[in-house]
Amino acid sequence: MLLGIDVGTSAVKAVLLDGLTLAASESAGLSTESPRSGWSEQNPEHWWQASFRATGGAAKRAGVDLSDVSAIGLSGQMHGAVLLGKDDNPLRPCILWNDSRSVDECDLLAERISDIGLVAGVPPLPGFTAPKIMWAKKHEPGVYREVRSVLLPKDYVGLRLHGARATDHSDAAGTLWLDQARRSWSRRLCEASETDLGWLPALFDGHAKCGEVSKSAADCTGLSAGTPVFAGGGDAAAGAVSVGATVPGRGFISLGTSGQLFVCTSEYRPNPEQLVHAFAHTVPHRWYQMAAMLNGARPLAWIAGVLRVGVGEVLTLAEHADLERVPLFLPYLTGERSPHGDPRIRGAFYGLEDRTTREAMCRAVLESIGFSMADACASFGDTLSGLPELLAIGGGAKSATVLQTVANATGAVLARAPESDAGAAVGAALLAGAGSGRLELSDLERKPPVEERFEPRRDENLQERLRRYRRLYGALKPVA
Ligand code: XUL
Repeated sequence: MLLGIDVGTSAVKAVLLDGLTLAASESAGLSTESPRSGWSEQNPEHWWQASFRATGGAAKRAGVDLSDVSAIGLSGQMHGAVLLGKDDNPLRPCILWNDSRSVDECDLLAERISDIGLVAGVPPLPGFTAPKIMWAKKHEPGVYREVRSVLLPKDYVGLRLHGARATDHSDAAGTLWLDQARRSWSRRLCEASETDLGWLPALFDGHAKCGEVSKSAADCTGLSAGTPVFAGGGDAAAGAVSVGATVPGRGFISLGTSGQLFVCTSEYRPNPEQLVHAFAHTVPHRWYQMAAMLNGARPLAWIAGVLRVGVGEVLTLAEHADLERVPLFLPYLTGERSPHGDPRIRGAFYGLEDRTTREAMCRAVLESIGFSMADACASFGDTLSGLPELLAIGGGAKSATVLQTVANATGAVLARAPESDAGAAVGAALLAGAGSGRLELSDLERKPPVEERFEPRRDENLQERLRRYRRLYGALKPVA
């Protein structure tokens, strides 16, 4: 059995693969703290606890013993800063990918290295790891003085499993410390961001072994001591592996808490003006271009929470809206990265009337997911024109209503594979399979079968609303 663990934002997901077949998956929920507006934090200990709850649950579902696991791969939310002291304990909660506190530090970094977008693959934005260290130096000097290493979320779980400080190229890519073309840490980027290069983990390809389950980790998880652990990938790149987007020209969208539009490339192709991220892939000799949205399918869960209903009911309400009376909704609940690079913007409804219903508000939130993906597609220019279809993964891809809305708004054909919501964890397990020799390297290029296709339907009303949605952002930007 191959085990893939994805340290997500709303849950840790564990999958067990028997060869290429999904034997079981299980999630263990996580919550996020926001002690101030724009802040987003999690306690790394909770990832560890959730990892073994999810792993144990998946084994139970599959009816296997965790000692049957022959290789483990890791995936996780990118960009988080886990600051560790000399005993390898976290010095403070992890500052996550959707945290926008380090705006001033990003300005400083851009001033210090004017061509940073060309080296690091993207201009400085607060979600990335490096400016968070600068923020800690200024605002929590006691913490900064104690820092001995910095890890990304999945690599903290790796540390707890095998004791080594290791990461893969695709997760390292989201830190602003990686020289993307060379696929190595950049001394210049570290110095500019007040980071000691010695704090950073060793770099591996995603299918490289970086440790073995320790005796103490075996005792608390039920895994066998000595089970090899493979580096894996950041959730975007691991998700890519799950749909074979390791072949140049293949692309997909992901709709989880965050959203991504991702296309694999054979070379490093920076495009910082459009805020398209150009990052090293988890597989060797490959890079990717990605539009990364902080508010993928999360707005649906947000309005479900506000209305105290489930996401399924939000979608049903949206289907019953009077289409003549739907307000516009900007989904920027935690600011937005692609295409605006705007940490200050927030969500907004516009066009509320005395008669606006829950149905109409749910419809507006649903449409905003399509609109934000349409903006992502626009930022890629004509790169997408050669792609016949985009596979869709992530929790939001489970809903046909969501996928049809995204297809209509973007004009792209979307295709959904079975088990598409397990994407990144499956990718991590495949990387472990290839690295351990249980699978072939060519299995990382395998495209899953398509379960359902969503052809865009021409909808003039929706296109007009998209134009107004774009103008609404322009109008609210100065207010934010
Ligand atoms: C990618 C990104 C998200 C996070 C959380 O740039 O910010 O994918 O990794 O899912």
